[in-house]
Amino acid sequence: MPDSFDVIVIGSGPGGYVCAIRAAQLGLKTACIEKRATLGGTCLNVGCIPSKALLQSSEHFEEANHKLAEHGVMIGGTVSLDLARMQARKGEVVTANTKGVEFLFKKNKVTWLKGEGRITAPGKVSVDGTEYETKNIVIATGSESIPLPGLEVDEAQIVTSTGGLELSAVPKHLVVIGGGYIGLELGSVWKRLGAEVTVVEFLDRLVPAMDLEVGKAFERILGKQGIKFRLKTKVTGATKSPEGVTLTLEPAEGGAAETLTADVVLLAIGRRAYSEGLGAKEAGVAFDERGRVTVDAKFATNVPGIFAIGDVITGPMLAHKAEEEGVAVAEILAGQHGHVNYAAIPGVVYTWPEVATVGETEEQLKARNAPYKVGKFPFTANARARAMASTDGFVKILADKATDRVLGAHIIGPDAGTLIAELVMAMEFGASAEDIARTCHAHPALNEAVKEAALAVDGRALHI
Ligand code: FAD
Ligand code: NAI
Repeated sequence: MPDSFDVIVIGSGPGGYVCAIRAAQLGLKTACIEKRATLGGTCLNVGCIPSKALLQSSEHFEEANHKLAEHGVMIGGTVSLDLARMQARKGEVVTANTKGVEFLFKKNKVTWLKGEGRITAPGKVSVDGTEYETKNIVIATGSESIPLPGLEVDEAQIVTSTGGLELSAVPKHLVVIGGGYIGLELGSVWKRLGAEVTVVEFLDRLVPAMDLEVGKAFERILGKQGIKFRLKTKVTGATKSPEGVTLTLEPAEGGAAETLTADVVLLAIGRRAYSEGLGAKEAGVAFDERGRVTVDAKFATNVPGIFAIGDVITGPMLAHKAEEEGVAVAEILAGQHGHVNYAAIPGVVYTWPEVATVGETEEQLKARNAPYKVGKFPFTANARARAMASTDGFVKILADKATDRVLGAHIIGPDAGTLIAELVMAMEFGASAEDIARTCHAHPALNEAVKEAALAVDGRALHI
């Protein structure tokens, strides 16, 4: 007789596995279904973790090749690349993380049901044919990459991020379609390892959701690193041959076509909610026009007892957003008041320099006619950044003109992904720019640039 549970979570990505752990911590009898051979979802297996491992390794290669000499660290002879070792290390990092989740499941007594989960009725889920009963179901089935008509992904010549993380040789020319998170992170990896990289982007800017000024600076800095950009351009077709791929490009607004050849093409034009084979539609769960599960503020679908979190619902497709929702829904199921503050979710592009953002952009403030003040501070004027020889970029803080409350913050610069945490915290606490400006920051530290940007909001930066 199969078990019954208080909660069955379908999918073990950052949303699902964190939800399962929190639910178990709160005393709910919990199972998590995963059809992959390992736990951790897209993020741990083919997303955040392997990409960060390769970004780290490729940055070391870049340093050895181009940056250490400036510090007087001379490497005799040429620096060579052992890509097989780099890829193997990436695999070790992934395994350590996926095994870590397995350990946490055991520690917290979460049952891992291995196989494909299917909702057969409200309160009933089957896993590869075995049916389980449960008081609550949490859908956390994540997302998949969006295909482009005319381009057949084979994960060898035309790859998604999954194939783009697995290349066994550095391509001579990598063409990336889409100048967003994946395109710029993986484009940076392969550029540093020696590929020529061209990014074809439909819009007139990179990472379109980010603050425009930061986006433009990002384009300049990556351009200086040698990445080529074809903005306002669309790909209309591809022809494969053993030598490579010939892409047909056209101006986004239409016009004369041209061709561009590549050894490898990385398709990174966004991701879409994934719910194939889940049985949710058949169980009556409502979806929106973009295939996302529709939920209310408490992550409940229209079917009692069925909830959804993470990439499969609306909002930024980010691991930490999914995790926050996982905790919140577990707490709600345990009778508590879990909630997520969507106004303070950071986004980070882990290139070098990194780009980090939280809250509203200047364009969003203008669009809603919000009176605001801007404070900016460049890393060229930060002592620690100079010591690191990493002075590209700046901190930008946007504050309410009347109340001085921080409305948004945008950083391009060394370790921006860590620096942004202070500003996320400030926003969580409803802090003003003055609060940050009056907080003592250690010297010499990169986050003094945050303090200086906060001072600059009222025109009183000290070091510029
Ligand atoms: P997922 O992680 O997608 O997990 C869903 C899981 O559900 C999968 O393992 C899938 O196999 C399983 N599943 C689906 N259907 C079923 C079923 N019927 N039965 C059983 N199992 C099922 N975000 C960041 O915040 N930081 C980053 O640095 C970052 N880097 C990324 C890099 C890349 C290359 C990619 C592709 C994504 C990256 N992301 C990053 C995004 C991040 O991976 C996602 O936002 C996050 O994984 C979403 O978590 P989730 O739990 O909603 O779903
Ligand atoms: P994205 O949404 O970040 O970027 C896609 C880009 O492709 C956009 O700039 C868009 O304008 C462009 N585009 C769309 N259609 C196009 C077309 N036909 N031709 C040319 N360009 C086109 O999506 P991406 O990079 O695929 O990543 C998916 C998601 O995964 C991200 O939005 C993010 O949520 C998550 N992610 C997060 C990371 C992080 O947190 N560091 C890293 C990688 C992914």
